[in-house]
Amino acid sequence: MKKSFLFGALLFVVVAGCSSATTKDGSSKVERIAEVEKLLSTMTIEEKVGQMAQVTIDVLTVGESAFHTAEPVQLDKAMLRKAIVDYKIGSVLNTPNNRARTVQEWHSLISEMQDMAMNETRLGIPIIYGVDAIHGATYTAGATFFPQQIGQAATWSRELVRRGGEITAYETRASSIPWNFSPVLDMGRDPRFPRIWETFGEDVYLVSELGVALVEGYEGDDIGDPNYLAACAKHYLGYSVPWTGKDRTPAHIPDIELRERHVPPFKAAIDAGVHSIMVNSGLINGVPVHASKKLLTDLLKEELGFTGIVVTDWKDIENIYERDRVASSQKEAVKLSINAGVDMSMIPYNFDFCDYLIELVNEGEVPMSRIDDAVRRILNVKWNLKLFENPVTHYEDYPLFGSEEFEQEAYKTAQESVTLLKNENSILPLPKNARILVTGPNANTMRALNGGWSYTWQGKGSERYTTNYSTILQAIEAKVGKNNVVFKEGVRYNNDDNYWVDEAFDIQGAVRAAASVDYIVLALGENSYTEKPGDLHDLSLSENQLELAQALSKTGKPMILVLNEGRPRIIRTIEPMMKGVLQAYLPGNFGGLAVADVLFGDINPSGKLPYTYPLYVNSLVTYDHKPSEHQAKMVGVYDYESDFAIQYPFGFGLSYTTFDYSDLKINTTTLTKDGSLEVSVTVKNSGDRVGKEVVQVYISDLYASISPDVRRLRRFQKIELHPNESKVVSFTLHPIDLSFINESLDRVTEKGDFELQIADLKETFTYVE
Ligand code: BGC
Repeated sequence: MKKSFLFGALLFVVVAGCSSATTKDGSSKVERIAEVEKLLSTMTIEEKVGQMAQVTIDVLTVGESAFHTAEPVQLDKAMLRKAIVDYKIGSVLNTPNNRARTVQEWHSLISEMQDMAMNETRLGIPIIYGVDAIHGATYTAGATFFPQQIGQAATWSRELVRRGGEITAYETRASSIPWNFSPVLDMGRDPRFPRIWETFGEDVYLVSELGVALVEGYEGDDIGDPNYLAACAKHYLGYSVPWTGKDRTPAHIPDIELRERHVPPFKAAIDAGVHSIMVNSGLINGVPVHASKKLLTDLLKEELGFTGIVVTDWKDIENIYERDRVASSQKEAVKLSINAGVDMSMIPYNFDFCDYLIELVNEGEVPMSRIDDAVRRILNVKWNLKLFENPVTHYEDYPLFGSEEFEQEAYKTAQESVTLLKNENSILPLPKNARILVTGPNANTMRALNGGWSYTWQGKGSERYTTNYSTILQAIEAKVGKNNVVFKEGVRYNNDDNYWVDEAFDIQGAVRAAASVDYIVLALGENSYTEKPGDLHDLSLSENQLELAQALSKTGKPMILVLNEGRPRIIRTIEPMMKGVLQAYLPGNFGGLAVADVLFGDINPSGKLPYTYPLYVNSLVTYDHKPSEHQAKMVGVYDYESDFAIQYPFGFGLSYTTFDYSDLKINTTTLTKDGSLEVSVTVKNSGDRVGKEVVQVYISDLYASISPDVRRLRRFQKIELHPNESKVVSFTLHPIDLSFINESLDRVTEKGDFELQIADLKETFTYVE
């Protein structure tokens, strides 16, 4: 069905005489406004409300119920008609039966839906289909898988992140899908949170910069270009910091903290033109964000000027009633959320939302102006995507889908994400003629390398799509030869129901096998998970895995720990036993190769931690904390055992070469309101290997009306240097880059003294207003 669809009858009468500058979306803004307004003026309340409704595809497929799809997947004509013609549903999401589909399957499913939407409804408005393509086209078999966002963040490379976004957009469009529920712009500030690996880490600037790079990669200059798509920044706002660290449990976030840490990445994405935003499924200060007019309308739409679609998260209008009890009925929940500013409901299993909303409008409980605002936003995005002209992209137009060229990009991103955290006496890289024991539950699993949202929601069952890729074990075997590798898991994951649990599996066998080798490579971490199934009671690495490490350490064989984990699990008791430590995060399908490349020196590691690696479960402190975390030093009298203590700092990562920093210069020691601070530093590769370094600029506000963060990342740049090569790296900063949110919730830069730091070099300057 590779053809354009006929436009609906009432649409697209060309507006004569309208001409204007082309917008970022490629269309003439005047033309779009005129067409969308014209369409809106012809719509009935039922048609408008239908546009605001989104159901999961399982509702539309042949199967026992809305929760189940029979295989091979087929759309249920009657259900499709009920949804699209009777209820006039405007959007569908997800993958049927929670499993990856081929590009051919996607094309046929989405074509059938568009065919009905465009040819059998009065107005012929196309549906907008959305999925979570969060590290590649994750629900398409054969797609290119990148590291998860936390690994992408560890590259500290805007270019790699942007390119990954472009490739993901291309392959998602190759799957006929124009809307991606990504990027995650939540702050990865609490390692207990089961979705920290979906974030770009703990720092506001890093998250904002990489968030913009990813939005630009997804959306390009024009989402009407069928190589790009509409992004969805999520989960607005404060989703990642619930009090207990558990998914969708209450968060208590003061406004000053919301604005200091959580708003800026969303503001940056909005300024970059992101077309949709998904709402935080949880509560802040007792109020479900889905019912917060203050956050959705006053802050997001009015203050931040967001003009795209505000879509709920999964079932979250129902949750206002069923889970959070802020509404006493479903209908009241619909009223609260729509009046708060929600534009589209991810319902996803029934049509009650439509019935309630129509009633509410007819009863005067939801103003028509609010409905029009929502529908206008939805139609604008459909228009900008050029769905009316080209409702279904075709896989044949995407010859680079899953290509070698794209895979090389994902491989490179994985290589640059791997972070070397310890290298005692330069034990790494290992010689390629060494005999090696490969052990640990993460050594031979593609599932754990990819993490959640990989072929399936939890990553469960993903193995059947990844047979062409190498696990860590297989990649090591390829480097040193199978004969030089002994494999004993020691601990393994239960890959069935309790997949987050592991079990000891012949630990003594692994210990015995160590007798015949030169080195032990111990791959520990977590199995795949996301959302609530990933909640934890204890951030420590599992008892079984700690026991395996302890047992192996008694052999005296040099041990390298490879961490393959979605969040930094506590490793305090075993870390001293390790000669080397590599953090691989969730590196995707090329993670095994990337880890082996670093272990054997085919790649010089350049990843840097995008979060603070904690040392103790009770001390989960980010790098940008307040000075009062360091009271032992200040008071000096007592030895505060519980003073600030971490395993590895934010921004840390070793290389096989060395970099010397010198000649830090600033153009002035007195920065004025309209002035700029020009900073330069010389970086030299003083070792004997080509290497990449992330130059990080931190600034400390020494005294401020709000106790200042000890330091803040304000600029960074990744560079490559050959042995003996030097580069001068320059940055420009303005007073706004020194600002913070004050007690009145205003963003201010206060006069006073500041210290700028790059590596170990420091300069001070004064801001005089
Ligand atoms: C998740 C979102 C996701 C949505 C649709 C929800 O459960 O919280 O991140 O986009 O499902 O799959």
